[in-house]
Amino acid sequence: MTTHDAGTMLSIGDFAARAGVATSTLRYYESLDLVRSVRTGGNQRRYRRAELRRVAFIRAAQSIGLSLEEVKEALDRLPDRRIPDRADWQRLSAGWRDRIEDQIRRLRELQEDIDGCVGCGCLSLDKCAIYNREDRHADDGPGPQRGFKAP
Ligand code: FES
Repeated sequence: MTTHDAGTMLSIGDFAARAGVATSTLRYYESLDLVRSVRTGGNQRRYRRAELRRVAFIRAAQSIGLSLEEVKEALDRLPDRRIPDRADWQRLSAGWRDRIEDQIRRLRELQEDIDGCVGCGCLSLDKCAIYNREDRHADDGPGPQRGFKAP
């Protein structure tokens, strides 16, 4: 790292404060290669200011329900590990609209199903629409499938 670079680089504490995340979060992001740092001669992390935008991108994407794996996939699509700009965000987030609409639909269904659970607490695999949302025994035939099968 040159002297000039050192002035434009941020320590992990400064970077975390500016990014609004914990230093442990930064280290985790770095372990996933979502953000990168360089090391000083004393083996301390230093971050380019431009990496702040990557963290902002990660946080925004997470807030709409994307996993870090999906965020990484999106960031890895940018050429030369470019820092995402406004156009990148618009392009990538447009592709997530369907996903958000699907989440809203699922939450509405959950809201309807939870009426039968209020005050119940059985969490029965056979009866509970919340616990058994995927209807795990649907392929076994209609109706209850556990403990009721004919010999
Ligand atoms: S908790 Fe009993 S039906 Fe869901």
